[in-house]
Amino acid sequence: MRRFVPSSLHRCAPAAVLASASVRRCHAAEPAAATPGKIKVKIHSDVNKKTKDIVAPTGITLMEAIRDIAKLDMEAACDGTCACSTCHVIFTEASYKTLGEDPTEDELDMLDLAPKVSKTSRLSCQVKLAPEMDGMELTIPDEMENQMSAW
Ligand code: FES
Repeated sequence: MRRFVPSSLHRCAPAAVLASASVRRCHAAEPAAATPGKIKVKIHSDVNKKTKDIVAPTGITLMEAIRDIAKLDMEAACDGTCACSTCHVIFTEASYKTLGEDPTEDELDMLDLAPKVSKTSRLSCQVKLAPEMDGMELTIPDEMENQMSAW
């Protein structure tokens, strides 16, 4: 059963009153908890000159989240087979530490050929989204080089 709470109570009620269950139910100012099976990702695109906050399911690759959910420009020429480096992204240091697995030798070889590589660079097609990555933040650099075009 819902109790009527005067609107003036919402903003300036004493803490003891706000602690009552009926008032807490009316206060929905706190952000919702993370959705199970999904994480938040903040993407800065130097290509599109915009920042997007998305919610993406775990288990897909970061490249798929950027391309299919954020709908930001990313060539991903080899479609995730670690053969082009056009899915290169640069993580914040804090986000890089949440990635878990280190890049493979194949990924490092491909990163060596990408422009604007930093110590927190990864190929987004090689990063599978996981719960511990919730809140990750990264940048898509504005320079890409498709290593497949040399074939
Ligand atoms: S999409 Fe080609 S290396 Fe990631």
